[in-house]
Amino acid sequence: MCKEKIFMKAFNLLITLLFYCFLQTACAQNVHTTDEPIAKIAAQDNVKFGFAVTYDGLKNSTNYQNIVKQNATTIVPENDLKWRWIHPDKNKYNFQKSDYIINYAVLNNMQARGHTLVWHAGIPQYVLNEKDPKNVEKLLRDHITTVVGRYKGKINSWDVINEVIHIKDNQPNGLRNSYWYQVLGEKYIDIAFDAAHKADPNAILVYNEWGVEHGSKSNVAKREAVLALIKRLKDRNVPIDGFGIQAHISTDGVKAIGDDLTKFIENLHNLGLKVYITELDVKDNNSASYTVPEAYNRFLDYALKSNNIDSVLVWGVFNKQNSNNNEIPQYLFDKGTGCNSSCVAVKEAFEND
Ligand code: XIL
Repeated sequence: MCKEKIFMKAFNLLITLLFYCFLQTACAQNVHTTDEPIAKIAAQDNVKFGFAVTYDGLKNSTNYQNIVKQNATTIVPENDLKWRWIHPDKNKYNFQKSDYIINYAVLNNMQARGHTLVWHAGIPQYVLNEKDPKNVEKLLRDHITTVVGRYKGKINSWDVINEVIHIKDNQPNGLRNSYWYQVLGEKYIDIAFDAAHKADPNAILVYNEWGVEHGSKSNVAKREAVLALIKRLKDRNVPIDGFGIQAHISTDGVKAIGDDLTKFIENLHNLGLKVYITELDVKDNNSASYTVPEAYNRFLDYALKSNNIDSVLVWGVFNKQNSNNNEIPQYLFDKGTGCNSSCVAVKEAFEND
């Protein structure tokens, strides 16, 4: 064979090889891991993923169950562990729905979160009527001991206190002027963590808060009050292990989310806390800048820039049928068609991290 022919053969071989490599890369890009369940993609980043769930959904809808089982490694009852739901009268506990949800998690090898033990909302009247600090402390301890004790070893992390800073209330240290605060002062927080820790020493005990996602003036002030409160709790050896960022965001508000969110998460981590995204959802308020999927994606991009996110939980499963009111939160799944564009955007945020 003459040199020229050998050269042409080698050249053709090289071109074929290059073309083959090009095809391989193009195809690899098309094989979207976005076809995988969300929890599987999140797990590659060492992040757990899940949803707030309802008793009705888990009990009555196979479609709902399948989405949850396929995509979640963690679930949290949306309402069924709140005081008014679970303990409506002094001597009456309603465990039926919460038992069902927590056992569902256990049976399906998922982790369960508990939400929430102490909150300014959802307090029954029999509690509000009690004003004597000693009696209130007893009510609080009894409630926590009973509820946390019942799910000992089954609920892996608890929102012990929820939404306790509210700067607008003009109280010292930015504390919310709630019933608990009015009767017991800041000490109610110590009592709640102490009772929860005694009831289940292995549970991860979390302070859950809203309005800390943005770089806005009010959110920044709240972050400062949050960090200062956590420092005080740590100084008093209160057994707090984690912080929950609720993340009820909107397409309009998301533009104010940036590097300072990542920094806030790092600050929490530096105080020794695990950080959870506990209630993520997006309201569409017709922003000119961001769609709902873009808002999910942007928020997660900044949150996941920190490697200290334990879990991301979305505060619902299926989009609600309410086309007249586009201000209701939008979720990741549509009945019938399944994973929607927000769901894909969430997967991409985990993939690109
Ligand atoms: C909301 C539930 O989603 C509603 O179904 C219920 O009517 C009221 O509470 N912050 C919280 C959650 O910590 O418990 C709230 O959940 C949403 C805001």
